[in-house]
Amino acid sequence: MDICVIGAGYVGLTTAAVLAQLGHHVTCVDINEERIHKLQNGKVPIYEPGLKELILNNHDRLRFSSEVTDHIREAPIVMIAVGTPSLPDGKTNLTYVYSVVDMIAESITSYKTIITKSTVPPGTNEAIYNQLTKKGINPEHFNVVSNPEFLREGSAIYDMENPDRIVVGLRKDDKKSAKIVKDMYQGLDAPIIETSLSGAEMIKYASNAFLATKISFINEMAKICDQYNVNVDDVSKGIGLDARIGPHFLQAGLGYGGSCFPKDVWSLEQSALEKGVDPKILKAVQQVNADQVDVYINKLQKAMPNLKGKKITVLGIAFKPNTDDIRCSPAVELIQKLSESDCDVHTYDPKAHLPSFLQGQAFQHATLKQAIMNADCVIIATDWKEIKEFDLKTMRSIMKGNIIVDTRNCLDSEVVRELGLQYVGVGRP
Ligand code: NAD
Ligand code: UGA
Repeated sequence: MDICVIGAGYVGLTTAAVLAQLGHHVTCVDINEERIHKLQNGKVPIYEPGLKELILNNHDRLRFSSEVTDHIREAPIVMIAVGTPSLPDGKTNLTYVYSVVDMIAESITSYKTIITKSTVPPGTNEAIYNQLTKKGINPEHFNVVSNPEFLREGSAIYDMENPDRIVVGLRKDDKKSAKIVKDMYQGLDAPIIETSLSGAEMIKYASNAFLATKISFINEMAKICDQYNVNVDDVSKGIGLDARIGPHFLQAGLGYGGSCFPKDVWSLEQSALEKGVDPKILKAVQQVNADQVDVYINKLQKAMPNLKGKKITVLGIAFKPNTDDIRCSPAVELIQKLSESDCDVHTYDPKAHLPSFLQGQAFQHATLKQAIMNADCVIIATDWKEIKEFDLKTMRSIMKGNIIVDTRNCLDSEVVRELGLQYVGVGRP
């Protein structure tokens, strides 16, 4: 099948590469010419494990172009994978999606299946359909399908090749698209959930909101555990073995970040409010998450009452391991707050870079060892393998102070303490 994927970001690039691997002819287009130029020269503009290799292995079926409308015109299947960031009021900014819909309207000369992979609030796909018909496009010449994506950054290729489910939202009168989408994903072994356009949109938001709820729940439990000298990891394990609860997304820590949970939970709250529903759980989930960085700053201040001039090393900048993505990274928020407290902030991340607004306020080192040299305190903010497996004896010997703040509960607190280091975690007696 010939497919045009619009948007060469984390989702668009992964989707394009996986569809090419499934045997399709894919053109991935983006208005960002610099990004496309890099891709045309074999360079991948983001860090996602295995993505570069997958793109290279499929070079005969995968093209990149910034001639967006030309390729939309050629392809019978177009997939929208552009960004849907938050507006200042929490609603979703649909400008990029609607600008793509305008481009599609300009370019329809033959029948098209228009698949929305971007995460969009309930009602958006119906609005896309209406936008096209209002522009005079004959409804016989296209169908709109909602096909949300559930991949995680850092394991995007595995997730897309091994989905738990494929969600396909269709208009009632659409008799063509279900088969087209099934054929497109042939080779993937997953149940297909067919629902309405808004049903698919809601499944996506409800999934992210539920996962975020689990994280805020365990973070609240961790604070209670702290007061009763209970290890929250035991609690996660103990409740996670109950099949009704499940073991995933019960890792207490600095809170959820990234380009999706924060914006999607907020957007769902706004969608609810718009229809007169007061989403109390969604509000609480966000409130708990908003406090997590301060929870650790307060703990640090207890362990080290005078932060002024102290060398504090924050290990990790990315919002989670195995990605260079720093969008809504709690590590970045932590670095910013520390730099505002007059301490000397140093940092290290294997792949991510400090945002430009922090480059004068914190120093990013090229190696972990350099970053922790003479540090009064080391804070683990992102649990990269390199960081959590760093030799603690070496850490002890090259640090000036002895405080380790483990915001991801990823170290063995007993081993840390045996080395004469002071361990600070949450829900870790
Ligand atoms: P991204 O910001 O990494 O990439 C979006 C790309 O779209 C950019 O390269 C941008 O230049 C391009 N773009 C914008 N307008 C365009 C236009 N008119 N024509 C062509 N290209 C255009 O975004 P992302 O992280 O890949 O997310 C894309 C969507 O997928 C979002 O809705 C997001 O919520 C959703 N999603 C993301 C993830 C994830 O892990 N990142 C997972 C599931 C779903
Ligand atoms: C998340 C979802 O897991 C994907 O299914 C979804 O497709 C995606 O959002 C999206 O819609 O964009 P992602 O943001 O890449 O994926 O990463 P996650 O692994 O979900 O982690 C999100 C945040 O939660 C990270 O900051 C992570 O550190 C934190 N987290 C995760 C915890 O604090 N505890 C946990 O137990 C799990």
